[in-house]
Amino acid sequence: MRSQKKGIPMELEFPTQKKLHLVVGDITSLAVDAIVNAANETLLGGGGVDGAIHRAAGPELLAECRLLGGCETGEAKSTRGYKLPARYVIHTVGPIWCGGSWGEADRLRSCYESCFKEALRLQCDSIAFPAISTGAYGYPLKEACKIALTAAFQICCQKELLYPKEIYLVCFNSQALDAYNEVLDEGLEVPLA
Ligand code: APR
Repeated sequence: MRSQKKGIPMELEFPTQKKLHLVVGDITSLAVDAIVNAANETLLGGGGVDGAIHRAAGPELLAECRLLGGCETGEAKSTRGYKLPARYVIHTVGPIWCGGSWGEADRLRSCYESCFKEALRLQCDSIAFPAISTGAYGYPLKEACKIALTAAFQICCQKELLYPKEIYLVCFNSQALDAYNEVLDEGLEVPLA
């Protein structure tokens, strides 16, 4: 059992040399290869982290997004990062929480899987995720964190997977960090991919 205290960011290193970081902060400030945007199906911007990323990246991001023709829930499409410190933005569309019986968990899992596929295609050493769907889309935080951590652990356990080497799960507030830590403390069942 980890001795992680609540509210303190932390880092896990795997035998595969891959690293998983839990951090608190604004994802737009991270100088990683790719940050993930919790977008909507239009990919034309919005509030929350979507709004923050578009504001920080500048108008060229929206101009490129306009060429993408939208994005299905659970899928991911990439653009350059423009004025962001990150090289790329991987836009994904999380499920809107509708009580849990409408395939929300599978769609959220698919968001992470689609983003990791994009990170591999773009050869990103590092990728940072917000807590997808846990804001405006209302996904229960702890359940969403469990899906995020399980997906990240599956990647970190795959030695033969060259990219990414570092995964950042970014918490915009302490509630999200506490939720991640609670999931870790309760233990994760990670089906190996
Ligand atoms: N950095 C990191 N995380 C952030 C930031 C930020 N700058 N801003 C918000 N977050 C966190 C929120 O606290 C939440 O935990 O991102 C998580 C996702 O919240 P939302 O941004 O509301 O995204 P989501 O719940 O997936 O809803 C997507 O909201 O903004 C619109 O266009 C977007 O329609 C889409 C919907």
